[in-house]
Amino acid sequence: MAILEILTFPDSRLAKKSAAVTKFDSSLEALAADMLETMYEANGIGLAAPQIDAHVQLVVMDIDFESSEDEPPILTNKNPRIFVNPKIVSKEGQQVGQEGCLSVPGEYEDVSRAAKIRLEYQDINGTPQSLEAEGLLAVCIQHELDHLDGRLFLDRLSFVKSKSVKRKILKEKQHE
Ligand code: NI
Repeated sequence: MAILEILTFPDSRLAKKSAAVTKFDSSLEALAADMLETMYEANGIGLAAPQIDAHVQLVVMDIDFESSEDEPPILTNKNPRIFVNPKIVSKEGQQVGQEGCLSVPGEYEDVSRAAKIRLEYQDINGTPQSLEAEGLLAVCIQHELDHLDGRLFLDRLSFVKSKSVKRKILKEKQHE
C-alpha cells in the first residue's frame, strides 16, 4: 500500500470528469486500498479517485466516529466503504451542514445537500449494490460524487461566496 499525493485547489485536474470503471481486477483493489490509506493518513472521511489524479468513478469513505463524554470524537478508521460507479437515483429533502475537503485544506463552509438519498453502485468485485443514506453519510456521498463530476464543495456555494473563498485561497497560495 502507498500514501498518494492529494491534489489541491486550484489544480485543474480536479475539474476533470471521471470515467466509469470497467475492469474489476487487482489493480482496482490496490487503488482502493491506497486511497483508504491516504484518506486515513490525512484524517479524512472521504476521498474520490480524481483527488489523487486517477480519473475513474471510485470513492472511498469511512465516517465512523467513537465518542466518549469528555473527549472530542475520534475517527475509528474501522468501517471502510468503497463505491464503484456510484449514482444517486433519488433525493429527498434538504440539509445544510459544514463541509471541508482534503483538496481544499483549511476551508469549511455551509453547504446545502439533499437530506436523504438512494445510491446505486458496484462493490469492488463489480456486484451491483444499493444503499439508502441520510445525515452525514448522505452528505459525504454527495460531496464525493461531485468530485467525480469535477466539482468541489466550493462550487456549491452562492456565486458571491464561492468567488470570495476561491479568491482568498488563491491569495494565500501566492504568499506561500
Ligand atoms: Ni472533497
